[in-house]
Amino acid sequence: MSTFIAPSILSGNFADMGNEVKSIDRDGADIVHVDVMDGVFVPNLTFGFKMVSDLRPLSDLFFDVHLMIVDPVRYVERFVKAGADFVSFHVEAEKEIDRTLDIIKNAGAKCGLAINPDTPVESLAPYIKKLDLVLIMSVFPGFGGQKFIDGSLERIAAAKKLRDEYAPDALIEVDGGVTIENCKDIAAAGADILVAGSSVFGAKDRAAAIKMLRG
Ligand code: DX5
Ligand code: ZN
Repeated sequence: MSTFIAPSILSGNFADMGNEVKSIDRDGADIVHVDVMDGVFVPNLTFGFKMVSDLRPLSDLFFDVHLMIVDPVRYVERFVKAGADFVSFHVEAEKEIDRTLDIIKNAGAKCGLAINPDTPVESLAPYIKKLDLVLIMSVFPGFGGQKFIDGSLERIAAAKKLRDEYAPDALIEVDGGVTIENCKDIAAAGADILVAGSSVFGAKDRAAAIKMLRG
């Protein structure tokens, strides 16, 4: 089975985001990965739900919103209303995880939980049955263009084991430092969705990059 490719618009041109989304859609992307950062959970700022609602009419692809914000419970419903198909937030950033997952589901989207590279995979276990998406960070979140952290493959395999046992329909997404060189190993470890920022937006031929990443 080939993997789904989710280019991260964090690596796109913020002054031309509509055309960036249209371009990755034309070039064969499966999913649009939307990185929301609050400058508190991570040392960087991006955008909020207005970006999602403004981009929404420009593509039929799934919008996969990755919230890197503290207390995401405050905002998840508004992201679903703005047009997100998947909403993921970090286990490290929220006290009311079950309630937040329920809000996302009740609002009509698929829900995901993300973990940082230094958070044990087992921290997903209490919530796994509720999850549609398990988001394994293979860099510390905040910036595109970082190097894939060694040891992430083992974490992906551990997440796959948990998923296979308790949530067989959930997808495993890997985010950070995914390249044409390492994509096969990441897929073999158990990833279903590969997020790719710089390796798609930085490529001369984005369509070829997406094809190669898909494997
Ligand atoms: C990092 C973001 C990633 C990032 C990936 O905080 O969550 O989605 O855009 O970018 P690359 O693929 O360049 O590592
Ligand atoms: Zn992301």
